[in-house]
Amino acid sequence: MNRNIFDDFLSRKTLFLNKEILRHDHLPQILPHRDSEIESIAFNLVEALNGQIPSNMTLYGVTGAGKTAVTKFVCNQLEAKGREKNRPVRSIMVNCRQIDTQYRVLSHLGNSLREEHEIDEIPFTGWPTDRVFGELVRRMDLNGGVYIIVLDEIDHLVRKAGDDLLYNLTSLNASLKSARTCVIGISNDLKFTDFLDPRVRSRLGQLDIVFNPYDAGQLQDILRQRSEGSLKDEILDDGVIALCAALAAQEHGDARCALDLLRVSTEKAEQNGDDTVTQRHVRMAQHQIERDQMIPVISSLPSQQKLVLAAVLLNEKNGLRNIQTGEVYDVYQQACRYIGHNALTQRRVSGLISNLDMLGLITARTISKGRYGRSKQINSCIPNNVDAQEIMIESESEMEEVFIRPYRHQSRL
Ligand SMILES: Nc1ncnc2c1ncn2[C@@H]1O[C@H](COP(=O)(O)OP(=O)(O)OP(=O)(O)O)[C@@H](O)[C@H]1O
Ligand SMILES: [Mg+2]
Repeated sequence: MNRNIFDDFLSRKTLFLNKEILRHDHLPQILPHRDSEIESIAFNLVEALNGQIPSNMTLYGVTGAGKTAVTKFVCNQLEAKGREKNRPVRSIMVNCRQIDTQYRVLSHLGNSLREEHEIDEIPFTGWPTDRVFGELVRRMDLNGGVYIIVLDEIDHLVRKAGDDLLYNLTSLNASLKSARTCVIGISNDLKFTDFLDPRVRSRLGQLDIVFNPYDAGQLQDILRQRSEGSLKDEILDDGVIALCAALAAQEHGDARCALDLLRVSTEKAEQNGDDTVTQRHVRMAQHQIERDQMIPVISSLPSQQKLVLAAVLLNEKNGLRNIQTGEVYDVYQQACRYIGHNALTQRRVSGLISNLDMLGLITARTISKGRYGRSKQINSCIPNNVDAQEIMIESESEMEEVFIRPYRHQSRL
C-alpha cells in the first residue's frame, strides 16, 4: 500500500492538548491582571440591567493589552445576565479595521439585528446613508432593550472616514423610542480624539479607561493561565515562560506576542521530535516570528524606499559599516539611473532613511562631528535569516537589475 504523506505527521507525538487555547481569537474566561479594567467597564454597563443608559466609553491601550478580550468578556457576561433577568441587552462588536466606512458600519449593525425578524438584508452599497440609519433605528426599536455598540480599532475608521459615524451613533438615543444605546470605542492611539469634532469628543469620552501595558511578571501569569489545558503537563523547561514573557515585555508588553512565542516554540520542539520545550526553541521561535513579520514590511515598501534600502545593502556588500547618508545617496542615484527612475533629492532620501529606521529595517544614528556638523551612521538590522534582496526582487522584478549592476563607491578618506 502507498504511504500517504500525512501518515508520518499524524503518527508524530504532539505536545499540545488543545492548540486553539493559545490562538489570538480564543476568548479566555480568566483574564489575569485585568480585574480593575473589567470592574470599571462592568460598573458602567450594569446600568443596562437596571433599565438605564450606560455612559459612552473610550478604551485605550497599546496593542496586545487585552482591550478586545476584556470587552468581549464583559459584554458576554452582561448579555448572559440580561437573559437571566429578562432584561434585553445586546452587544454588537464591529472591527473598524475591516469594516471601515460609515455606510458599512451602519449596514453591518442593521444586518446583525435581522435574524430576529427575518427582515431584508440592507445591501452592501446603494442606499442613501439616511435610509440605512433610519432602518437601523427602526430595527432597534422593534426589539427594544439596550444596545452596546462596540467600535473596535475605531482610530482606523476616524482616520479614514472622519467622525460623521460617531456623531450619528452618539446621537442615536434622540431618535430611538423603545430602545437605548451606548457606544464603546476602542483605540490604541491615545491621540485619536484630536481628530474629532469637540461635540463628538465629549459625547464619546464620557468615560475613558486606559489599559496599561503588561510587565514581564504579568505576562508570565497570563502565559501560565493560557498554557493550562493547551499544553501537555511538564513539557515546558524551566525558564521558557519567563523568556517568552521577557521578550514580549520588551515589545511594549504585548500579550499577543507572548502567546505567539509560546505556541511557536512548542511547535518547534514538536517538529524536532523533542519531548520538552527549551529556551533554544524560544529563540528559534523568536527568529521565525521576526522573519514572518519582516517579510511583508519589506515587500510592501514603495519603490523609492526599496531603492534606498538597496543602496544601504549594496554599501554593506562592499564591506562598509556605519554608512553615511552621502554614501547611501551616491549608490541610490546610480541605482535609479540603471532602472530609469528619477532620483529624489538628498534631503528627501534622508527622510526615507528615517522611515526605514522607524520600520526597524535599519538603524540610523545621528552623531555629532563637532564644528563639521552632524552626520548619520547607517547600518541594516535585518536578521540573517531574512533575505531582503530576494524579497525585494520577488515583489518588484526590476529590483533584480539594481542588485546585479556594478557600482562605483565613494572612497573614504
Ligand atoms: N489578561 C489576559 N489573560 C489572558 N489572555 C490575554 C490577556 N490579555 C490579553 N490576552 C490575550 O492576548 C491577545 C491580545 O489581546 P487583545 O486582542 O485583547 O489585545 P488588544 O488590546 O485588543 O490589542 P489591539 O490593540 O492590537 O487590538 C488575545 O489573544 C487575548 O486573548
Ligand atoms: Mg483589539
